[in-house]
Amino acid sequence: MKARLAILISGRGSNMRAIVEACQEGILTPLAEAVIVLCNKPGAAGLEVARQAGVPAVVVPSKGKSREAFEQQLLATLQPLRIDLVVLAGFMRVLTPLFVHAYPQRIINIHPADTRAYQGAHAYTWAHENKLTTTWITVHRVDDGVDTGEVLGRAEVDLRGAVDLEEIQRRGLEVEHRLYPEVLRQLLSGGRMTRATALATESLRTR
Ligand code: GRF
Repeated sequence: MKARLAILISGRGSNMRAIVEACQEGILTPLAEAVIVLCNKPGAAGLEVARQAGVPAVVVPSKGKSREAFEQQLLATLQPLRIDLVVLAGFMRVLTPLFVHAYPQRIINIHPADTRAYQGAHAYTWAHENKLTTTWITVHRVDDGVDTGEVLGRAEVDLRGAVDLEEIQRRGLEVEHRLYPEVLRQLLSGGRMTRATALATESLRTR
């Protein structure tokens, strides 16, 4: 049986696209199906990307709602769909224990930095401002903290010679789009991921 994925986005949706493509005709095809894309921002570009790919895309606006009311609405939308894994892909809301505990160990996120070094938004700006010559992309489980959950995979991004923030983001996203489907593949094919498989994904490099 394929794992049923819900993908949560807030914007462009390029990671969502990479995961949907991997489900439809890639490394996740035998393992997973993208059942729904949920977005908290009306008009986000990713909504159209999902629909073009044939995945139902639903807006649950977060603006003007309490965290609890928003998350109750998310849960009510997901509950009838029998979702196995909630995949955060550029979802810019911090989830509270109300939602996190509804899918224990089953919410995954991608963070464009080493979570030990930097947590929260604007990680590529952080890499740029600190003139890093290398940064890391991290896929991790979501727990009650911000970017503090168990690391499932990491991949390095070579930033040497990157001239500006756009170049850093371009190189980073290229790695993100390969790492996220690969970590999901390992997670779904091997049951619980071991430290060894998590480390194996570190070999995914830009160059
Ligand atoms: C990515 O850099 C992701 O790591 C971060 O937000 C960005 C989302 O980009 N959490 P996209 O919407 O997947 O294109």
